[in-house]
Amino acid sequence: MQWLYQRDLAYIHAVGFGSSAQGAAPEILRRLKNASTRIRRVVDVGCGAGPLTKALLEGGFEVTGIDTSVDLLEIARTVSPLARFLNVSAYDTPLPACEAVIALGEPLTYHEDSGADYRLSQFFRCASSVLPAGGLLIFDIIELGEPSLAGRAWSSGEDWAVLVETTENQSERTLVRDIQTFRRIGEFYRRSREVHKVRLFDTRWLRAELASCGFTTETAGSYGEQPLPARRRAFIATKDA
Ligand SMILES: C[S@@+](CC[C@H](N)C(=O)[O-])C[C@H]1O[C@@H](n2cnc3c(N)ncnc32)[C@H](O)[C@@H]1O
Repeated sequence: MQWLYQRDLAYIHAVGFGSSAQGAAPEILRRLKNASTRIRRVVDVGCGAGPLTKALLEGGFEVTGIDTSVDLLEIARTVSPLARFLNVSAYDTPLPACEAVIALGEPLTYHEDSGADYRLSQFFRCASSVLPAGGLLIFDIIELGEPSLAGRAWSSGEDWAVLVETTENQSERTLVRDIQTFRRIGEFYRRSREVHKVRLFDTRWLRAELASCGFTTETAGSYGEQPLPARRRAFIATKDA
């Protein structure tokens, strides 16, 4: 398992990168409320600092957040004390009883080896066995294709800065983000580094896997008004009767 979102990157993610999930939340809530089965319990896979968890709780759902990052979960617990949180990989735990599973912001793309397709297949099977007919599995991934995502980017806030160098290898279906963070601690800036290894997925393969697990799937380039970045695709999969 990769060590993702430790102390400083977790802080930066929480203070600087919650807006995509917040922007997606109204559409997610709309879908949950309009589902053909009554949705009461939601699992927020890769919940991070919990921006969606918070919106789901405010929308009246019972929420379990799952994430591998201890530091992000510490923040999520403070923000949403009424949710339940599990510090475990989504691939290493049975999903709790629920009517919807959501993995927003690419949590299913983090894989450091070539076992990604197998893990996702098993994850879909697990979701299919837990969800009732009409239950929802919603997630987004990074697709293979154009434009290239390789390059350098930076962002900053009042007490932090982050530099990211992205490389990708489409034939191996991998993308690597080399992330340097700078966070102000007292008078100084602390520097840390994380390397995230990500899998690029084939949308047709994912649709076929979902169908074989009993889901009818639509895909989208946005969550309602919230557009997804380049090469991201959202999957809204409904468990068949
Ligand atoms: C880009 S963040 C998105 C966080 C949050 N969903 C949001 O939209 O703000 C991806 C999250 O997935 C988590 N993650 C990655 N692999 C995971 C796994 N196998 N199981 C659970 N969480 C995972 C990371 O720790 C991180 O919090």
